[in-house]
Amino acid sequence: MATRAVSGPRLDIPTSQLPTLPGVPMSEPFHAIPSFYGTETPLRFEADVHDCEVIGRIPSELEGTLYRAGPDTQFPTLAADNIVNGDGMVSSFDFRDGHVAFKCRYVKTERFLKERAARGRLYGKYRNQHTDAAETHGTDRDNTGNTTAFFHAGRLLALREDSYPHQIDPDTLETLPKWDFAGQLKGMSLTAHPKIDPVTGEWWSYGFYCRGTLDADMALQVIDAKGKVVREEFFQSPYAGLAHDFGVTREHVIFAVMPLTTDAARIAAGGDFYAYDPDLPSLWGIMRRDATVDTIRWFKLHECVSGHIMNAYTDGDMVHIDATISKGSAFPFFNDVHGNKVDPAQGIPLVTRLSFDLSSAEDKVTRTPFPGAMGEMPRCDPRYAMAAYRWGFIKTRNGIGRLDWKTRELAEHVIPGGSSQEPVFVPRRADSAEGDGFLLSLVNKPAEGCAELYVLDAQHMEAPPLARVRLPFKQPMAFHGNFVPRAERP
Ligand SMILES: [Fe+2]
Repeated sequence: MATRAVSGPRLDIPTSQLPTLPGVPMSEPFHAIPSFYGTETPLRFEADVHDCEVIGRIPSELEGTLYRAGPDTQFPTLAADNIVNGDGMVSSFDFRDGHVAFKCRYVKTERFLKERAARGRLYGKYRNQHTDAAETHGTDRDNTGNTTAFFHAGRLLALREDSYPHQIDPDTLETLPKWDFAGQLKGMSLTAHPKIDPVTGEWWSYGFYCRGTLDADMALQVIDAKGKVVREEFFQSPYAGLAHDFGVTREHVIFAVMPLTTDAARIAAGGDFYAYDPDLPSLWGIMRRDATVDTIRWFKLHECVSGHIMNAYTDGDMVHIDATISKGSAFPFFNDVHGNKVDPAQGIPLVTRLSFDLSSAEDKVTRTPFPGAMGEMPRCDPRYAMAAYRWGFIKTRNGIGRLDWKTRELAEHVIPGGSSQEPVFVPRRADSAEGDGFLLSLVNKPAEGCAELYVLDAQHMEAPPLARVRLPFKQPMAFHGNFVPRAERP
């Protein structure tokens, strides 16, 4: 089976007039695919805005760079394509002396370069090599680097959960060779949701499908503050599912496996990599940090699907995990195991505290939804990661939300006519109180054809933004980013 490439000049050919081959996924013009309409239409260009227009005033404490990563499909897409299959685009907002410079560059992966040379699409569906053109075989097809831009041990990395990260030059955003941890890592994958221990500087991670097969092989990985792999242990999940995010506390690690399963026959027939199985529970595997992986205790929760985790902490025998939870699949771009579209209403996420009682023999888990906290892309003050904390932040349907876990109140910055992206919290100063600082969130303004990076005072959510950093073009949905203070750059 091969994917048919449609090059740029043929973009205006109506889909109905393109020749079809049975069983061959067709490339389509972006405008023919609903999931790539409007603000989600890929940019397909790299950009530098040396001095961004700033409406308001950049706080003097904000000195450093916000790095983000997201998908930006380079060439016309497939009818069955989805956002997570896009080519990686890394962007930066560099704050310096009250000025802001923007830059974005594609992650120059092997896949990207091959398609650019061919001037058309060669690679097919998300994590399905059976939908690729023959000349791609044996190449690194999945490592788009499109999920997280992340800084650790002096390296800026573009992560993607099925692969090793690409190194990115933190100044130019040009792509450097993939980082293989100097050959120290045996597994083939790392999560794109790394957890940094604010006390030790360690990078806690895991890999799923880490041996390159569809078996339920997982690995726990710990990389020390200097970038050395100090721990790698292999184990198996009870089933081969989807593990996008996880939790780490000062005492425990929590592996979260969602009921979207893989199937070799489906994939070989050109189907999706994942399919949602509503009959399966989600799995929550908990182990002590100082124990070995053979001690993992797997809790099972029905009608409890998580997209992301805000934070986690241990209190005695209780392990609390604050996650976005929905009743059904939170991944609407994958069908169910019967081939049907999933019900989007069942996938609406609500931030919920899952409290696991490790003293209970009957796997007791309490679910406590946060009132009104409907949203995604949860973050916290990174200095309070892995410990009891008060403030959390989410992207809401109407804007940007702040959760106060002490009072259980949600404060929201409403953005009429705009759509926000992941809110990244930046402490005002290294020694500021928890939650005293700034929220950075990219806001698309479709009516104005532009995007603005909002800078909010996290303690005054209802107030107008301190500053809006305006770009003269929109920004498609990026996934995740991190702010790197200037003092932490090499
Ligand atoms: Fe994510």
